[in-house]
Amino acid sequence: MTTVIKNGTIVTADLTYKADVLIDQGKIIEIGANLKGDRTLDATGAYVMPGGIDPHTHLEMPFMGTYSADDFESGTRAALAGGTTMVVDFVLPGQGQGLMDAAQMWHNKSTRANCDYSYHMAITWWGQKVWEDMEASVKAGMTSFKHFMAYKGALMVNDDEMYQSFKRVGDLGGLAMVHAENGDVVAELTAKLLAEGNVGPEAHAYSRPPQVEGEATNRAIMIADMAGVPLYVVHTSCEDAHEAIRRARLAGKRVWGEPLIQHLTLDESEYQNPDWDHAARRVMSPPFRNKLHQDSLWAGLQSGSLSVVATDHCAFTTEQKRYGVGNFSKIPNGTGGLEDRMPMLWTYGVATGRLTPNEFVAVTSTNIAKILNCYPQKGAVLVGADADLVVWDPEKSKTIGAANQQSAIDYNVFEGKTVKGLPRYTLSRGVVSVDDGEIKTREGHGKFIAREARPAVNRALSAWKDLTAPRPVARSGVPVTGV
Ligand code: URP
Ligand code: ZN
Ligand code: ZN
Ligand code: ZN
Repeated sequence: MTTVIKNGTIVTADLTYKADVLIDQGKIIEIGANLKGDRTLDATGAYVMPGGIDPHTHLEMPFMGTYSADDFESGTRAALAGGTTMVVDFVLPGQGQGLMDAAQMWHNKSTRANCDYSYHMAITWWGQKVWEDMEASVKAGMTSFKHFMAYKGALMVNDDEMYQSFKRVGDLGGLAMVHAENGDVVAELTAKLLAEGNVGPEAHAYSRPPQVEGEATNRAIMIADMAGVPLYVVHTSCEDAHEAIRRARLAGKRVWGEPLIQHLTLDESEYQNPDWDHAARRVMSPPFRNKLHQDSLWAGLQSGSLSVVATDHCAFTTEQKRYGVGNFSKIPNGTGGLEDRMPMLWTYGVATGRLTPNEFVAVTSTNIAKILNCYPQKGAVLVGADADLVVWDPEKSKTIGAANQQSAIDYNVFEGKTVKGLPRYTLSRGVVSVDDGEIKTREGHGKFIAREARPAVNRALSAWKDLTAPRPVARSGVPVTGV
């Protein structure tokens, strides 16, 4: 059975034009005028765009003594409801656990996914076994490797380990990723704040000032450069980190920055709310920042120094957040946003004139697919691409609230915000998952997307590194003396 999307305007990262899209067996098979299919979806007055890709989620993640509350079923349902058709989650090996054993655990959890997904591999400890397993990870399609420079005593890796790991990633043709915060300084500041009686959720923000992020971002960039590997900085939240990324890119380094929709639209005043729950629900790392930092992030998206918008969706219930009553450092870190990223970015980005619709597609989908090397299977409206599409109605509006969301948690950090611009239809490999606003997701429909190593940027980087590698000078006429 074929499906045709009719009367819409196709919006991609670089083109805007009127055409119909014909879909068969999960793929786009034709784009053109007056197409016919067994089933018709009407896109009059709407934009037909590549479905969103969220490059940063934590579904059912073991963290800070609990598990994030959205699993692969509710998380991907939330994603599709908001126009996102693929998520990239993080495999987090336990201390001493092999990477492929951990990957198997994630594969077991994701069997219920409603949309396609891929994985980054996290390097949470270091040793010969990890070094060996990294090759197996690449062969199994997990080619990007995340390093936590924070969460001391838990997920954090030190610089020597990070350098060795980055070199390995470079040799394997993969992508190095960092959570960039100076974990040593955060630990010092946390201890001091608690000792002084600063125990509330606002102190979480005090313990992670922009400097800890700026310093770590710069350090990761320099280590990646020395190791010869491209670098992706997750959840870039402030000018200090953005400045380091901007400078690196101007110097020709292959570095990408990922602001979150939360940091773009919510600020640090949330932590001053007199309601403990309100503030604690917004505790995440890095914390929300002030308007100057937010303006910097928007400018980065506009100028291209920042490349993608993610959510870092890691949702905890109010009950879970309350583990940290009396000690902010025990509040599980993380916020949700999967359902809201696209409508919030459209409302606060496109409708305000900060972003064009084409830039919106680039930062929510196409750039991500290119950086993570799954383009044009994903992130494209092209013949042969997966039919992961969103028919976006710029006139449809709603007020965000926990009462009508797909996420399993009992609140929403964007509660009360009115968004204009929502999916009329969301298609996951041709399956209509949002049908005129109605949720019709299929549990288990999602498939794992393996990604190949050595995309063009890695090949370019290694060609340049080979060309400029230290070599002994071949000399003639060596003076023979002293004989
Ligand atoms: O606070 C956050 N960001 N929680 C999720 C884990 C991480 O650091 O990405
Ligand atoms: Zn992180
Ligand atoms: Zn994260
Ligand atoms: Zn299916």
